[in-house]
Amino acid sequence: MKDLLLAWYSQNKRPLPWRETTDPYAILVSEVMLQQTQVDRVIPRWHAWLERWPTVEALAAASPGDVIVQWQGLGYNRRAVSLHRAAQHVAAHGWPDDLTELPGVGPYTEAAVGNFAFGRDVLPIDTNVRRVQERTGELFDGSCAQALFDLGATICLARIPRCGECPLAAECPSRGRRYEPLRKQSKFEGSFRQRRALALRAVAAGEQPSDGDALVSLARDGLVVLQDGAATLPS
Ligand code: ADE
Repeated sequence: MKDLLLAWYSQNKRPLPWRETTDPYAILVSEVMLQQTQVDRVIPRWHAWLERWPTVEALAAASPGDVIVQWQGLGYNRRAVSLHRAAQHVAAHGWPDDLTELPGVGPYTEAAVGNFAFGRDVLPIDTNVRRVQERTGELFDGSCAQALFDLGATICLARIPRCGECPLAAECPSRGRRYEPLRKQSKFEGSFRQRRALALRAVAAGEQPSDGDALVSLARDGLVVLQDGAATLPS
């Protein structure tokens, strides 16, 4: 199956900008952004980020407040704080062998950066990759990672896979199957996550939000500083 997959990929590869680099910093930024944000929305933000902070040293020297503001709109703002702390760790000590020593880096991001930047034969398993492996019953190696992202995003879709166009269909035990709707990401509208986002946006605009619970939660995550009853971005 691997050969079929890689042959398909060579003809159908999505031209994603982070595929043109092996700079571990640029790849870490892309993978952290891609954790909960769609590819199309990440592309312009990834370019803007690297223009502003082209190196891990540049990001490490930034103020946390600037990093949080630059992240606005990408969601899950804690990721910005972790990414900044990771950059400071790397700027001070270099890249660790065990990438999970970096804040915000778990097994998935470790595998992604390990593979795409450091050439390790490890497979980062996100939902798309897991789905293709489960349906095909195949265990793919690290060389298949980008191809699996693309197959999962464009052909081997969660509910109604496009088996008619799939390079693996002839050998896939799940071909032609349909699937129940998956649990959706919990709703953002009306959620505490939304209240946090609104409060953070207000603080970034120099206002004082009245949502105390949201502010306390943001402060706990290092996204705002509360002092003498006033909220500011960390400097
Ligand atoms: N999803 C997670 N990482 C990705 C990557 N590097 N390319 C495309 N989709 C991804």
